[in-house]
Amino acid sequence: MKLIIDHGDILSYKADALLLGMFKEHELAGDLAKINDALNGALKKALDDKDFSADTKETLSLTTQGSLPYKRILILGLGKIDEFKEDHLRRACGFGAKALRSVGMKTIASRLHANLPKDHFDQGKVSAEGFALGLYQFLHHKTRDTDKIKVLDTVTILGTDKTDAEALRKGATEGELLANATNYVRNLVNEPANIITPTRLAAEAKRIAKEHKLKLTVLEEKDMAKLGMHSLLAVTKGSNEPAKFIILEYGKGDKSIAFAGKGITFDSGGLSLKPSPYMEDMKIDMGGAAAVLGTMKAIASLKLPVKAYGVIATCENMPSGHAIRPGDIVKAMNGKTIEILNTDAEGRLILADALSFIEAKIKPRYVIDLATLTGACVVALGHEATAVLGHDDAFIQKLLDAGQDSFERTWRLPLWEEYKERMKSDIADVRNINVVRGGEAGTITAAVFLNHFIEKTTWAHLDIAGTAYITEEKDYLPKGATGMGPRLLVELVKRL
Ligand code: BES
Ligand code: ZN
Ligand code: ZN
Repeated sequence: MKLIIDHGDILSYKADALLLGMFKEHELAGDLAKINDALNGALKKALDDKDFSADTKETLSLTTQGSLPYKRILILGLGKIDEFKEDHLRRACGFGAKALRSVGMKTIASRLHANLPKDHFDQGKVSAEGFALGLYQFLHHKTRDTDKIKVLDTVTILGTDKTDAEALRKGATEGELLANATNYVRNLVNEPANIITPTRLAAEAKRIAKEHKLKLTVLEEKDMAKLGMHSLLAVTKGSNEPAKFIILEYGKGDKSIAFAGKGITFDSGGLSLKPSPYMEDMKIDMGGAAAVLGTMKAIASLKLPVKAYGVIATCENMPSGHAIRPGDIVKAMNGKTIEILNTDAEGRLILADALSFIEAKIKPRYVIDLATLTGACVVALGHEATAVLGHDDAFIQKLLDAGQDSFERTWRLPLWEEYKERMKSDIADVRNINVVRGGEAGTITAAVFLNHFIEKTTWAHLDIAGTAYITEEKDYLPKGATGMGPRLLVELVKRL
């Protein structure tokens, strides 16, 4: 999709379609009055006849019969003005653009932003995100009937005059960049596990490093063995794909943050094999790693004043004659021994070494890990929020605020002392699952486990099991990978 920021009169601007918004019970003023007049009162008639009442997501499509330069004008209901929040504009842009694409419109001009009573920067940013995120499609594996795929190729955000357009452009540039990083994450997560292998993730890191002049280190299994990363190496043992440990570095200074991503390119469960229904979904188990790559890309493109590290532990979790067995005990890089009671709780095993590495070798001011870690998180929060856990209230609050602002929302779960008991092993330092009473509080006990490997640094754990991918499309979120990560974390970095 090409995004243009322009200015002009809506009565003479040229595009296939014009997209406008209307609040419930609002007067016909401004853009709406102009269009109503140009169409001989067609909009007023629809309202009088109760064909359209501007409820949220209600649409009124008007044809122009050549009286205006558009084939159609789509008026999108925005609901009640006092209930309209920033994310509603994002949703309206995504929803409206998809509606126009579905009827074959290729170029559209939008005035939807004019309904957000905030500054121009936000209007431009949020609209650009809504359009670029909403119009995303993952279709490149389709080889037949591709000419029937509808593509909306140009969106113009239309300002009233030059100053208006310039102000919108600043926000739109940032919004488009964040949407591109998000769509990049979506592509990685949507690709199947035979394409996105650990080797491929390392190749992606190399591409990003080259493009943005970042420092890159990729550790091979022999390097990991030298460092004592036997927890990560235990997980990869059942697979034929070589594991990789990736470190990307951006920027300078002492305001430093490391992002650690779980990069299980396929999670079969290992010998604690998952049941077959939905096992295919486990190609998304590298969602944390993809989010880290997308975030590094976004931070570097925005040239944010921070020192950022992207650390990715990546391998497959497969059953085989070489695979780890339930009951095996391994030693992580920080020297702690782990009793592996369930090989499907593998994400925490690879993160144990990633976090140990960060604490011992990188020593940043802050650490955030992102992982599709527990099914329990989906049970607790569904697909609406990422679980956030950690000890530093001020840092966690920043993640909660960044979640509200980016609308990649986060919700805190406790990490109290009392939960620690659950992860004690009789014969090793720690065990990898909570076997007490059917594994209750699964998201929390997973974080308790991780906490054993990051003890000195300000740390937050993000469980993105419910937010990395969804099974039903929403306004600007497609079915499949959501691309969560870059928008939330860029917002966080701005707050540090
Ligand atoms: N990758 C899964 C968690 C997951 C589940 C992510 C659903 C996305 C959607 C993780 O490795 C896993 O299998 N976790 C187990 C842990 C259990 C064995 C303690 C789980 O959640 O069942
Ligand atoms: Zn698993
Ligand atoms: Zn997993």
